[in-house]
Amino acid sequence: MVTRRSVLGGAIAATGAGLLTAGGLTPLLGAGSAQATAADAAAAGAQAVTVPPPFTVRMPTLPVLSPISQLGGQDTYAVTIKEVSREIIPGVQTKVLTYDGHFPGPVLRARSGRKVVIRHRNALTMPVSVHLHGGSVSPENDGGPMDTFGPGTSRAYSYPNEQPGAGLWFHDHAHHMESEHVFRGLSATYLLSDDNERSLPLPAGQYEVPIALRDARFDEAGQLVYVMDDVFGRTTILANGRPTPYFEVAARKYRFRLLNCSNMRFFQLRLSDGGQMVQIGTDGGLLERPFTTDTVGLSPGERADVVVDFSRYPVGTKIVLENTLGPGTPDQVGKVLRFDVVRTASDPSRVPDVLRTLPAMPAATVQRNIVLSMDEDGRQEPRGLMDGQAWAPERIDQTIAHGTSEIWTVTNANKIVPHNFHMHLVQFRVLERGGAPVGPAEAGLKDTVRLFPGETVKLHATFDTYKGTYVYHCHLLDHSAMGMMANFRIR
Ligand code: C2O
Ligand code: CU
Repeated sequence: MVTRRSVLGGAIAATGAGLLTAGGLTPLLGAGSAQATAADAAAAGAQAVTVPPPFTVRMPTLPVLSPISQLGGQDTYAVTIKEVSREIIPGVQTKVLTYDGHFPGPVLRARSGRKVVIRHRNALTMPVSVHLHGGSVSPENDGGPMDTFGPGTSRAYSYPNEQPGAGLWFHDHAHHMESEHVFRGLSATYLLSDDNERSLPLPAGQYEVPIALRDARFDEAGQLVYVMDDVFGRTTILANGRPTPYFEVAARKYRFRLLNCSNMRFFQLRLSDGGQMVQIGTDGGLLERPFTTDTVGLSPGERADVVVDFSRYPVGTKIVLENTLGPGTPDQVGKVLRFDVVRTASDPSRVPDVLRTLPAMPAATVQRNIVLSMDEDGRQEPRGLMDGQAWAPERIDQTIAHGTSEIWTVTNANKIVPHNFHMHLVQFRVLERGGAPVGPAEAGLKDTVRLFPGETVKLHATFDTYKGTYVYHCHLLDHSAMGMMANFRIR
C-alpha cells in the first residue's frame, strides 16, 4: 500500500506541476473562482480551514426522484437544473449547481424495458446538456457536447432502457463547461435494474446504498473553488456530498453502489482492517461471478457494485473506508468514510455464485488504434489530444459500419499523466491490459477504463444499436474540456 501510494500518488501528483492554468479556459462561475490562481492551487495544503475533522458528519443517503407521471408505459420526470446553497461543511452554506436542488445529484431508479423521459428545465445562466453515461440512447438523446440548451429553456431526454440492468449516471456535458458544471454538482445516479437482478437475493431496500465519491476544493468561506486541471487543490473527499463522513450500519450485508463522480481523482479503496469485500458488478452491471477482494479501484466515471458483510464485526466496531492513491497526503485524502457498526439485524440476503450471463462477443472484423496524450512539459496552456488532435465538433474521427464488432487498442502515451477512456453508446469488454488478460474487476461490461501512464488496453465493442455520431473521450473531465475527445459515426 505504501509502495502504491508513493509510486502512483507521486506520479499523479507530479502532473500538476505547470498544468494548473491549462487550456486557456477561465473558470465560468463565481468571483472566487475567477480570482483563483495557479499559486493558490499549488498552496492547496493551506486550504479549507473550515473542513471538519474526519467522521464528524453523518453520510446522508441520496434522495430517490419520483416520476411526475407513469402513463403510457413510461416514467416521466421533471427536473430543474438550478443553483442552490447546501450544507457540505457543517454550518456553512455552499453554492452548488444541482439537479432539482440535490447535492450530490439524486438517484433515479429505472427498469430495463420501461422507458424514462426526463424533462430538464435550465434555470442557470449557462447552457447545459445532460448525458446518460453508460446508456444506449439515440444521438438526439445523448446530450452531446454541442447539443446544449440555454438558460430559461427546457429539454426532454428519452431513455428507452433497452439494455440490461446497470449502475448508470447522468451528468453535464456542455463542451468547455462540463468540467466546471460537474465539479459544482451536476451529476446524478441512474440505477437501471432488470428482472434477473431483481430475482437475486442481494441486499436490497435500506441495505442497498448508492454512494457518490468525489473530491472538492473550498476557499476559506467554504465556497467551491474551480481551477482548470487543479490536480493538487481538490483535497477534500466527499461521500454523498459530505466531507469524510461516518455511516451507521447494522452487522449484516450491505450492497454499495459506488460511483466516482470526481473530475480527475482516482480512488483505490480498501477497508482499514484489510477486510474482504465482494465485488459483484462494474460499469455495465453485474459480473458473471462475484469475486472477493481487499481493494476496489475507481477512475473518474467508473462504478463498482460491492457487498460488504459487517456481520463479522462486533457491534461497536468502526471500519474506515480508506483511499490509497494521491494526489494529496494520506491525512487529506486517505480516508473516505467510516462505517460504524451500531446494531445487529437479521440478514436473508446472499450473494449467489452466478449473477448473470454476459452477452456473446461476435467476432471482431475491424481494428483501430487510439492514443490519448496531453502536453506534460510544463507549458502554460497544455493541450489534451486524442490521436494527436484536439476535438473538433464537425470532424468525424472514426466511421463505423452499423452492426460490426471492433477491437480498439487504446494507449495512454503520457509518462506521468493518468487518463481513462470512455465511449458513449456502447458497453465494451476489456480483453487485455498491457497484453495480459484483465482481472475480475474488469471482466464484465465496461464503459470507462483506466489508463495509467504508458498503459494500453484492448477493447471489444459491438455497434449494433443506433446509427449517428457520438463522442469518446478521456473522463478526466478537465482533460476532455481541453480537447481529449473525438467523434465516431456509425452508419
Ligand atoms: Cu460520462 Cu461523455 O461522459
Ligand atoms: Cu485524461
